[in-house]
Amino acid sequence: MTERSLVLVKPDGFKRGLSGEVLRRVEAKGYTLVALSIFVPDQDRLALHYAEHEGKPFYEPLVDFMSSGPVTAAVIEGERCIEGFRALAGATDPTAALPGTIRGDLGRDWGLKVQQNIVHGSDSPESAKREIEIWFPGLA
Ligand code: CMP
Repeated sequence: MTERSLVLVKPDGFKRGLSGEVLRRVEAKGYTLVALSIFVPDQDRLALHYAEHEGKPFYEPLVDFMSSGPVTAAVIEGERCIEGFRALAGATDPTAALPGTIRGDLGRDWGLKVQQNIVHGSDSPESAKREIEIWFPGLA
């Protein structure tokens, strides 16, 4: 079934000039870009986005990091693109992420309080709908 997913190039990826490389991989895989925007997310939007992590030790560093600079936000579309983009992104920990994945090829541990791991991708159809409504209202 055709579905949509939210993809974010996080501030570390944006700062390193990796937005184009991430979008290139999305398109090379055969997914379609439906919406694209670059901006600094505010804390209110991030509190909604990361609601499930509230209270965890990495929550505040995560929100601070995510609001520290511009992100490239995209809605992508394609058959099973939620699972497919997660596979392209690789494991959350960029040190453990397999070569061939975005995080495995381009990421590393920087010894910081939060995993700076270049990209975010929705992890289920329910999260994708919820997240797209937060970042691109009306496009879910
Ligand atoms: P993401 O999966 O996009 O959304 C939650 C983020 O929290 C995750 O990426 C990492 O950036 C961060 N994160 C998840 N687990 C940890 C952890 N154990 N320690 C630090 N940061 C984490």
